[in-house]
Amino acid sequence: MAQLWGGRFTKETDKLVYNFNASISFDQKFYKQDIRGSKAHVAMLAKQGILTEEEKDQITEGLDGILKDVEEGKLEITSEYEDIHSFVESNLIDRIGDAGKKLHTGRSRNDQVALDMKLYVRDEIDGTDKELKDLLLALQKIMEENVHTYMPGFTHLQKAQPVTLAHHVGAYFEMFRRDRDRLFDIRKRMNTCPLGAVAGTTYPLDRAYTAELLGFDAPTRNSMDSVSDRDYVIELLSAFSTIMMHLSRFSEEIILWNSNEYRFVEIDDAYSTGSSIMPQKKNPDIAELVRGKTGRVYGALTSILTTMKGIPLAYNKDMQEDKELTFDAIDTVKGCIALFTGMVSTMQFNKANMEASAKRGFTNATDAADYLVNHGVPFRDAHGIVGRLVLLCLDKGISLDELPLSEYKEISPVFEEDIYEAISMKTCVEKRVTLGAPGPDVMEQVIAQNKEYLEKN
Ligand code: ARG
Repeated sequence: MAQLWGGRFTKETDKLVYNFNASISFDQKFYKQDIRGSKAHVAMLAKQGILTEEEKDQITEGLDGILKDVEEGKLEITSEYEDIHSFVESNLIDRIGDAGKKLHTGRSRNDQVALDMKLYVRDEIDGTDKELKDLLLALQKIMEENVHTYMPGFTHLQKAQPVTLAHHVGAYFEMFRRDRDRLFDIRKRMNTCPLGAVAGTTYPLDRAYTAELLGFDAPTRNSMDSVSDRDYVIELLSAFSTIMMHLSRFSEEIILWNSNEYRFVEIDDAYSTGSSIMPQKKNPDIAELVRGKTGRVYGALTSILTTMKGIPLAYNKDMQEDKELTFDAIDTVKGCIALFTGMVSTMQFNKANMEASAKRGFTNATDAADYLVNHGVPFRDAHGIVGRLVLLCLDKGISLDELPLSEYKEISPVFEEDIYEAISMKTCVEKRVTLGAPGPDVMEQVIAQNKEYLEKN
């Protein structure tokens, strides 16, 4: 046990207590952030005349050496240290001696950990954003290629009106775009630097300078809030939960579309798994796992909200619990987005099945009624007439466009040969031209806007 404290203690820490208290097994993920923060801190201390330039250079060199050795596998981060902060500082002192003991001037581990967590979360927001952008690019490609791919639009999981695959996928484009906006907002709001001890310090620190060195917009404005604020973790996990909810909904659709009953899509072999007993099976495990892992990210959000709810100001050790769940959620979300992107971009769409399904579901029934209305039949009567036609088709096991004109005429003489044109999937979709509709012209406009957005962001 290599501890940074002990002066006022007369006994060794109990072994079980040590293990229970230690965070090195997980906060070692912070080694880069911790070193980066320390380098900025000593640069500021030297600028303020609190350390000499020589001490600063010695410490900086020592910290760079630790970083290099850890990265090259020459220096192992072991459980001999309580946390990553102790590991770095103890190693520094071993390397450079007395100058190393000055590193911790004017800061506490509490603002150090707050800083490390912010730096880590900031980097991971950028990483997640990149994954989301790749997903949007994959969706954009599907949209571009499927402006004329007809499929049923559903409400209540009942076929409603015909849409296109571009339109359906476009809905998810909107969701993941909002997810990126949310991450952007969080990053902006959290971008203040907490370094500077618990209730202020008597050293003449230049906190604005440290903030600038570390790429923050400003220093935090209240030291007690600085060390006890985990709002950004909560916001991150909330945004992550929303991303997972979106991925999960899309996964659910893909699982349905991939089923024997729908056959709208065929998931690529590389993204499917087999059954140990039933040779015919090709299972959508990846989509199912993404859907399943949503629960674990929601769990992280609930967990941190509960951990934070009773904590008096300022720092309390409860807050150490923020890390494992955040790390796990980050790995889960980034991993799920990447796998999902691979799965959707290799998936085959069975366009003929999609179109046939739209027809068999009478998604053009409203258009048939509109045809009658356009020929002077009151809507309520038209509704009744088409209802009877649907019943007739159901009885025969055919779709509206397969019903002979003579049978149309038996129910209403208003029908003429042009009814088939009026209820074709093409007409039904192309007539829907308002912004946000599946009509190809307006869809092309949306796709062009998406393209511009993706080029700029
Ligand atoms: N491991 C701690 C955490 O993750 C670091 C801060 C420790 N501070 C303290 N006063 N014991 O929150």
